[in-house]
Amino acid sequence: MEDFEIKTALASSNIALIKYWGRRDSKLNLPFNSSLSLTLDGSISTRTSVLFSRKITNNAIYIDGKKFALSGRNEKISRIFKVVTAMKKLGNVNREVKVLIVSKNSFPMGAGIASSASGGAALVYAVNDALGLDLSMRELSIYAREISGSACRSIPGGIVRWRRGKEKDGSDSYAEKMFDSSYWEELRDLVVIVSNEKKRISSSEGHDITSSTSELFSVRPALAEKNIRIATDLIRKKNFERLGEIIMRDSNNMHAAMMDSWPPIIYLNDVSRAVIQAVEKLNGMEGRIIVAYTFDAGPNPHLITLRGYEPKVEEALKNVKGIKRVIKSSVGDGAKPVSESLIDHASLAPC
Ligand code: PMV
Repeated sequence: MEDFEIKTALASSNIALIKYWGRRDSKLNLPFNSSLSLTLDGSISTRTSVLFSRKITNNAIYIDGKKFALSGRNEKISRIFKVVTAMKKLGNVNREVKVLIVSKNSFPMGAGIASSASGGAALVYAVNDALGLDLSMRELSIYAREISGSACRSIPGGIVRWRRGKEKDGSDSYAEKMFDSSYWEELRDLVVIVSNEKKRISSSEGHDITSSTSELFSVRPALAEKNIRIATDLIRKKNFERLGEIIMRDSNNMHAAMMDSWPPIIYLNDVSRAVIQAVEKLNGMEGRIIVAYTFDAGPNPHLITLRGYEPKVEEALKNVKGIKRVIKSSVGDGAKPVSESLIDHASLAPC
């Protein structure tokens, strides 16, 4: 086949409740431990259109209006290129056929929200559709994982577990849905933006620095697997109070290992710490856990809470200086096809 249709997909970001940090294989993004995440809703998502055509002269990708050549210099872009090439091969697509990828985030660029999870998932989903590959959720999540580890968790939707797997080729390291998005509808994530700055140490570098230098890292793999079993059971029972404790402790444990790395990796800043204090104060006043903080590889806290507690959490945040904005999300669905394309077929360029 030489003429392909433009296909567009939408995928949301996700927030890990039990974290992935450290890779046993950095090429394939194979983790030392499984992880558990909450899929966010459309307010933190990426829309991606792809077109394969012989009429395109050079492979290219546009992310929020910025053009990148699909070649080897930028690590994320070269991972995208590798995955697209592998998927083309699977579909027996001629090498002369080039690809145009146009991707747009629902949140402003530089808002301090990583787009690699939603972006990787939307891309793989759209390429699968465009090439008519008909891949399973498991296969899609494996391709997404190769772009960015956490992207595999943005394929299925709801509450998701990424299995660590044991195979060298990564064929058993994929994400699967544990609970549907409607299972615990009251769950909320308040994404608190405290900094727009690009992180000094990318997560890709950070994974490997921590696993190869931190003494504390050795406790993480077994601890995370245990935490996933406990957290899954608490979600099943909708026990927020105990779940909140595990969420905060797992995030703290990961950041302790990051700080114990050499050179040390410190992602939190003063405003992040002020938010932690506000959370502790609020939970202390309530006499139980009604909100839990968790941090990825950056300073922006995600506050996991329940719908009924949201007003109290927002009130508590008013006292913290330095917060730029708060984006609210409920539990969202997995990657899906959408009709509004970002590519103009006539000009073979972004709309
Ligand atoms: O997918 P990456 O390579 O950007 O790694 C993300 C790692 C954390 O966000 C810190 C934790 C997680 O499990 O998402």
